[in-house]
Amino acid sequence: MTEGTKKPFSVREIRNEFPALRQLVYGKNLIYFDNGATSQKPQVVLDAINRYYSKDNANIHRGVHFMSQKATTEFEEARIIIQKYLNARTREEVIFTKGTTDGINLVANSFGELLSAGDEIIITAMEHHSNIVPWQMLCQRKNLTLRVAPINKKGELIIEEFDKLLNSKTKLVAVTHISNTLGTINPVKELAQKAHAVGAKILVDGAQSIQHMPIDVIDMDCDFFVFSGHKVFGPTGIGVLYGKETLLDRMPPYQGGGDMISKVTFERTTYNELPFKFEAGTPHIAGGICLGEAIKFLSGLDIVAIQKHEKELADYAQDLLDTFEDMTIIGEAKKKTSVVSFSMEGVHPFDIGTLLDKQGIAVRTGHHCTQPLMDFFGIPGTVRASFAFYNTREEVDTFIAAVEKSINMLR
Ligand code: ALA
Repeated sequence: MTEGTKKPFSVREIRNEFPALRQLVYGKNLIYFDNGATSQKPQVVLDAINRYYSKDNANIHRGVHFMSQKATTEFEEARIIIQKYLNARTREEVIFTKGTTDGINLVANSFGELLSAGDEIIITAMEHHSNIVPWQMLCQRKNLTLRVAPINKKGELIIEEFDKLLNSKTKLVAVTHISNTLGTINPVKELAQKAHAVGAKILVDGAQSIQHMPIDVIDMDCDFFVFSGHKVFGPTGIGVLYGKETLLDRMPPYQGGGDMISKVTFERTTYNELPFKFEAGTPHIAGGICLGEAIKFLSGLDIVAIQKHEKELADYAQDLLDTFEDMTIIGEAKKKTSVVSFSMEGVHPFDIGTLLDKQGIAVRTGHHCTQPLMDFFGIPGTVRASFAFYNTREEVDTFIAAVEKSINMLR
């Protein structure tokens, strides 16, 4: 394939690339609808993990020997693959992290050092705990104010209310691109323009978006974009923080240690250049290389066709669930994708999830690390089906029949 050409999207072909999908659970064909929690891995990523640990394992940025240089080259090539996929201007703007949570904590601790008492940070009512708690901790430490932009009952951000919170004291807006619980797609480009108009920066939590839609950090004009490798078909324990270079340059290091330094004496330490200033210690080398493989795999696919397929699956599932008596769909935003959350009167989500599991169907139940959002809807949790490009309409049909069966057993 030449650069720029994409394989036409075929769900059958894609499924063949994912060995984990070809298994029986309790004697039934696995239906994996827990992609919001983590995605399955394509064969190319599994091969890359095996190859790295069987042949190429060495520490990077430090060795004169062949293996170290090879591992360094592969790790840095992965960074460039990711840079290109995000449309970041330079490789210096791509920092390897442990994942989305780590990326947000990095920004909260490092960018947070540039903030002063009285400054304000805006988040939204639909954030994951990882985009709430680091800001609460920062606000407590530095005497800042955390503001929460409200949502409506459909699970959409109320833009007029968001506008009212923005002012000259706002220094950062931290917002999820797609809600992990509701599937709501937030208008991050518009929010970036609004944040910039008052001199604030914007961090976009891309944990639930990069695997579902095209990402272009220049077009979005976000200052930070964070995501996790394992949700985008790569390994766990690796993720990325994209940051605008001018901003990253101004920010102090988050953690100290090897690789992030230029010169250390007992009196004073000077720091390495970007991106290494933010990568203290031996990184997850295999993780970085294999995340590169996962992103390369994704770049060979037609992400627009994938987006369409996943939206159709989610709409189909939602429409069918909506016909059930006493069923409430949690999250009915006009712009949403890949997630359907629901609650059923008189039935605990955990019980439905357990019965679905016995029928070979993996979903997530509970508060999905969004407890304030559950409080807003007045429920303890939901059953959440979250889709990936390898899911099919037939799987949705089986899932709907299994939900019906489970509810009948529980009521
Ligand atoms: N944040 C992940 C989820 O939504 C774990 O399930």
